Amino acid sequence: MNTYARLPVHFASGKGATLYTAEGDAYLDALSGIAVCNLGHAHPEVADALCHQSQRLIHTSNLYEIDQQTALAEQLLEQAQMQKAFFCNSGAEANETAIKLARKYGHDRNIDSPKIIVMENAFHGRTMAALSATGNPKAQAGFGPMLEGFVRVPFDDAEAVAAHAQDPDVVAVLVEPIQGEGGVRLPRNGYLTQLRALCDQNDWLLMVDEIQTGMGRTGQWFAHQHDGIRPDVMTLAKALANGVPIGACLAGDKAADVLELGNHGTTFGGNPLACAAGLAVVKTLRFYDYPKKIAEHGQTLLSAFQSQLADLDGVVEVRGRGYMIGIELDRPCGELVQQALEKHLLINVTQGNTVRLLPPFVLGTEQSQTLIDTVSQLIRDFLSRKA
Ligand SMILES: Cc1ncc(COP(=O)(O)O)c(C=O)c1O
Repeated sequence: MNTYARLPVHFASGKGATLYTAEGDAYLDALSGIAVCNLGHAHPEVADALCHQSQRLIHTSNLYEIDQQTALAEQLLEQAQMQKAFFCNSGAEANETAIKLARKYGHDRNIDSPKIIVMENAFHGRTMAALSATGNPKAQAGFGPMLEGFVRVPFDDAEAVAAHAQDPDVVAVLVEPIQGEGGVRLPRNGYLTQLRALCDQNDWLLMVDEIQTGMGRTGQWFAHQHDGIRPDVMTLAKALANGVPIGACLAGDKAADVLELGNHGTTFGGNPLACAAGLAVVKTLRFYDYPKKIAEHGQTLLSAFQSQLADLDGVVEVRGRGYMIGIELDRPCGELVQQALEKHLLINVTQGNTVRLLPPFVLGTEQSQTLIDTVSQLIRDFLSRKA
């Protein structure tokens, strides 16, 4: 269907942070398949795990015990300090799980029409409940009616959330620790801590969507850990298996036992193949201590972009955390994607005016310099042409 505006390039293979066309032309990937291939392309540990697992068992269904799923759940729950996991196949599905869990949490408390507080500018996926939670009228246009049961407030405004404390139907808050599709928007320090306190005071669930920010991307295993808080529900997908489709909804404390036998399910979710890839990802992140490395390297990358660009007329802000960087301009700049492609560099523009960089963790020192130089030059040229 005509759902994608694709760029005119076909990739045949990849290695680390580089993608190759069938003709052997190399492109530097500063997007990682939209925060998915965090360990780079053709990562040997992931490739070996997939090879090994596919020769033994790909799928049996959730009618039977799945050792790889149990092992992956244990490892993620240990990193997150949470108690239960449900596996599915995508980010949208992980959020559907969280939304169903929150509604059930309400019904268990005799709330017939539970409401979830969601944010302006949020992105949670394209299925109907996830789309209803998404704060982007353009993504919703043409697909009404949206699901009921969502209350929208401005992002990074804890008082706006607190204003709903008297509403007896509210059961949960769903929030991205950093809004990704929304333009790499970081909330002020303390925002998540305030949301945690509000959820505790009102017996609401704090549900964090870490689908883009999780698995080391921001310099912690999960971005909410920068704030030292623990959510009740966390959704993951994207980088969890470095490109093999998978999603997960983790739950802790008062959310852990809300979904019961027969409440939810999926055919493919958590199958041996996807979970074997997930285990290889977790093992690799731990072995190389990637979250810590990305915190350091990300700071260096961000500082380099700030020193090259922050004072330029037309640059509103250079911001980010870890390997999640946004460069906001004061004008639409979608054309930069094509201009970067011509320089054999893959970048993204989100919200029309924000260059988004999500490089893989395996980015080498020279590649990092190429990224800084090329993006800075493209932006300088673009701004001087459009002055
Ligand atoms: C924060 C967030 N949530 C949910 C999703 C949806 O994930 P998926 O495309 O796997 O359904 C995305 C995808 O970009 C995302 O960034």
